[in-house]
Amino acid sequence: MDLIRPSDLSDDQLDHLLREAEHWLEHNRVADKRADRLAGRSVVLAFFENSTRTLLSFDMAAQRLGAMVTTLPAEKSSVAKGETLIDTALTVDAMQADALVMRHPEPGAPDSVAEVIRAAVVNAGDGTGEHPTQGLLDTATIHHHFGRVEGLKVAICGDIRHSRVASSTHALLERLGAKVALAGPTALMPEGHDGPDGIDEAVAGADVVMMLRIQRERLSADLGDKPGEYLERYGLTEDRFKTAAPGAVIMHPGPMNRGVEITGELADSEHSLITAQVEMGVAMRMAVLDLCINGSDDTA
Ligand code: CP
Repeated sequence: MDLIRPSDLSDDQLDHLLREAEHWLEHNRVADKRADRLAGRSVVLAFFENSTRTLLSFDMAAQRLGAMVTTLPAEKSSVAKGETLIDTALTVDAMQADALVMRHPEPGAPDSVAEVIRAAVVNAGDGTGEHPTQGLLDTATIHHHFGRVEGLKVAICGDIRHSRVASSTHALLERLGAKVALAGPTALMPEGHDGPDGIDEAVAGADVVMMLRIQRERLSADLGDKPGEYLERYGLTEDRFKTAAPGAVIMHPGPMNRGVEITGELADSEHSLITAQVEMGVAMRMAVLDLCINGSDDTA
């Protein structure tokens, strides 16, 4: 099956992924990380936008499951000679890959590819569209920490307009019964947004505060903020975080701009689940690749 957006998953598949990610999280903490769920299978990684966490974690996830992993060096590929994305994908498919994990700047690009290839397509981020595995790993991290998602108050703050993470994480958390508030500067909120978009209101009483970076590469005009101004007005400072619920946690999908949307001290504090998100990223992507290539037999 393809995974392009959270709505591709049935409730059973979502439950299955949350369970399986817990299984792989434990599995990855032992010295010998080998498993054979994808033994003999071929996974291609094609990233046409920069990535650290998603690229590395899909690579590790596929290798730990025993797959043969091939990474297309996008900047050196024949796309630079004018080959289309579709022809590139058809080429991968003709090589009998079992899954194509792709990141692309155009929203909807994975849909166009999935229409024409046989291999499973896993969306690793399509522009401002969706980032389903980030949404899944965020949800699994919250579920792991609190033992539940239902009833939690989650504030997602920052550049909501350009964030595929905000789309996918928001959708999954609300589906599981969390109350999600989106907050950010007006210029960085989705057009037509009519909710409470003040960061102070969103953070007050929140169980989870998730900060997002400003995606300056997607802005048509510079925000014109002076150094330190964004942090003071819209970022996560100690004073703001003190208003969150007792036991509140801090999350960030990365990459993080310390001193802009969050202080370095809070990012490294005991309240932070940021490295836990990264660890869950490998586990969740193991669960996703297994589901997309093999179907949904539980391993746990
Ligand atoms: N969260 C995330 O997608 O990070 P990368 O861009 O480093 O993959």
